[in-house]
Amino acid sequence: MKFHNFWLLLVASATIFTVAVAYNRPPPRKNLVLSPADDADSTTPQQVHISLVGKNRMRISWITDDHTPATVHYGTSSEKHEYSVTGTVSSYQHLNYTSGQIHDVTIGPLEPNTEYYYRFAPGSTVYSFKTPPAKFPIKFAISDTVQPLWDSFGRLVEPLASRRPWMVTQGNHDSENITANPVTFIAYNARWRMPFEDSGSGSNLYYSFEVAGVHVIMLGSYTDFQPGSNQYRWLVSDLKKVDRNKTPWLVVLIHAPWYNSNYAHQGEIQSVGMMDAMEGLLYKARVDVVLAGHVHAYERFNRVYNHVANSCGPVHITIGDGGNLHGLASNYTEPQPTISAFREASFGHGQFEVVNASYAKWSWHRNQDDESVQADSVSIINLASNPACNKLEI
Ligand SMILES: [Fe+2]
Repeated sequence: MKFHNFWLLLVASATIFTVAVAYNRPPPRKNLVLSPADDADSTTPQQVHISLVGKNRMRISWITDDHTPATVHYGTSSEKHEYSVTGTVSSYQHLNYTSGQIHDVTIGPLEPNTEYYYRFAPGSTVYSFKTPPAKFPIKFAISDTVQPLWDSFGRLVEPLASRRPWMVTQGNHDSENITANPVTFIAYNARWRMPFEDSGSGSNLYYSFEVAGVHVIMLGSYTDFQPGSNQYRWLVSDLKKVDRNKTPWLVVLIHAPWYNSNYAHQGEIQSVGMMDAMEGLLYKARVDVVLAGHVHAYERFNRVYNHVANSCGPVHITIGDGGNLHGLASNYTEPQPTISAFREASFGHGQFEVVNASYAKWSWHRNQDDESVQADSVSIINLASNPACNKLEI
């Protein structure tokens, strides 16, 4: 069976924690700074990344130092690019930093499960990506990253991000929440524009999308989440729209984990407050899996609701182990809670393989192992196919 994968990322990670617990964050390591390629000039496209828009379109984003046209030429042949679309160019200023020219172009309609080739000017570098399949199976790669250095991060991830769609949600490091500048998420919103309008959201900080029978909800841990807030009301309406016959799988991503037995980041409002506000909604909707980042370690919980095991609750997984400048969060509370099935402080990433409408497999892969090694794995049976877990009125 062949899987087709793309990335779900929980962008950035944490430095703020508010509860006095016996956890000492390691000192930060030196930042990784990546310069443009040696042969690049001020008009050379860099930091190329792609993301899904609607059922059959793809957003292509890239940055140049100087202004160039926002035009993408594309097609299914590596030699001939018969289609072209022109989008928008923007830039932003944050304190004394001025961004490069951010190009944003949405191409399509595209065929599913098809290799497309694209470039930005005649004779320039040709990139390629494969569109997701229309049906199962599909594989998601999930990771948490820290990116205080936006340009270096864009250059670092381009080899992957230009080939498979990256769908992201924000973290605390992206907020720019400093007194001198009350506007937050300037860089994140300018550089990582997600298809929020398509799901009826009014903010790039929370949205949903559907791919191959999976409805994915990306929530914003660092924007209002209380009942009555815009995000809360949007979540209610989005959950009500989910058709489990069309998208049997319902997956939610947040940044700050609601369930966490690591000493790091205990008790933060983005965890306990958001959980108080929204856990009931996800439970009633029969969300299958909740993925979080923030804590720089790995932990998988059994199905849970309201702090106790519940066979109709989501599987909660913290996959905050993508690597960061602070090192790992290695201290766990003891004893391990009974709802915590597996926990380990190693760097790695997760894979969520949706095999069919009723069965998926989660696996965790540590950096120190070969990719084929699964340090943790679990089979997940879809809740919509469990008659004991009929969805409740939201
Ligand atoms: Fe974080």
